[in-house]
Amino acid sequence: MPFPIHRPRRLRQHKIIRDMVRETHLTPDDLIYPMFVTFGKGTRKEISSMPGCFQLSVDEIAKEAQKVHKLGIPAILLFGIPERKDERGSEAYSSKGIVQKAIKAIKDKITELIVITDVCMCEYMSHGHCGIVKKGKILNDPTLDLLAREALSHAKAGADIVAPSDMMDGRIAVIRDILDSNNFEDIPIISYAAKYASAFYGPFREAAESTPSFGDRKSYQMDPANRREALKEVALDIEEGADIVMVKPAMSYMDIISDIKDTFDVPVAAYNVSGEYSMVKAAAKLGWIDEMKIVMELLTSMKRAGADLIFTYHAMDAVKQLNK
Ligand code: PBG
Repeated sequence: MPFPIHRPRRLRQHKIIRDMVRETHLTPDDLIYPMFVTFGKGTRKEISSMPGCFQLSVDEIAKEAQKVHKLGIPAILLFGIPERKDERGSEAYSSKGIVQKAIKAIKDKITELIVITDVCMCEYMSHGHCGIVKKGKILNDPTLDLLAREALSHAKAGADIVAPSDMMDGRIAVIRDILDSNNFEDIPIISYAAKYASAFYGPFREAAESTPSFGDRKSYQMDPANRREALKEVALDIEEGADIVMVKPAMSYMDIISDIKDTFDVPVAAYNVSGEYSMVKAAAKLGWIDEMKIVMELLTSMKRAGADLIFTYHAMDAVKQLNK
């Protein structure tokens, strides 16, 4: 009989001992802060469904990035909201595009902040889908060329890492290929490898103005009911050259994070997405939860499940908490 010899509570009696035997440690190095850059000047527009997050113009995002860096957050993820959208998402791969400008403005001010760019067409397409649309279908292969050009233009502008989030088949291979043939063989790729067709992206689509004008994303993003398929997606992306693989969303997909961590030997990232952020913010606003305790518990759980890195809109608050 293990009891009374074994008493797990013995190790919980003293705070110092609890700290000594803690299995999971969240640190600022784990966190990546997503940011939205928009056209104009002096613009700082709060996203109503994501309190504390802003659409920032190029000048403002450069200032905000300095704050992020000073807090000790190692990296940001950039999303662009272009002035003009069209059927081929031209601003996504233009050297004068909004993200390209933002990268330069940020890099002019700070060199040690890692700038990761989201590579996807949905914010730049008039119809809001992540690929070229023909007769109501989202075309895979013709989209690959646009994604490759977008990734290359980000690298040329000074991005440190590119992160394709479109879920077209074969995109990691074409992006690796175009980067390598343009002397960017040292730029890593974070692949949104297991990205689910999730309702948790709702607030993001307000933030990035990228709601599809028809249909949904189920023909390219994964079915939330599927677990084994995530391993297949990750295996393919690693084979094609992904350096880091991501699971998205995070909270409802901890089993997926864990499976991937157990199966593969590349770093795993989790994306704590907009809807997860908004739920916490809303409940906190109503006084129903203790916001920072919930945030720290959630982020720690993602790490415990196996995430080496966490993309989170809570990054600035979390780091302040960690530095207390
Ligand atoms: C673009 C993209 C999306 C998110 C990240 N990249 C939206 C989508 O796929 O609809 C969601 C991020 C979030 O909800 O925080 N494809």
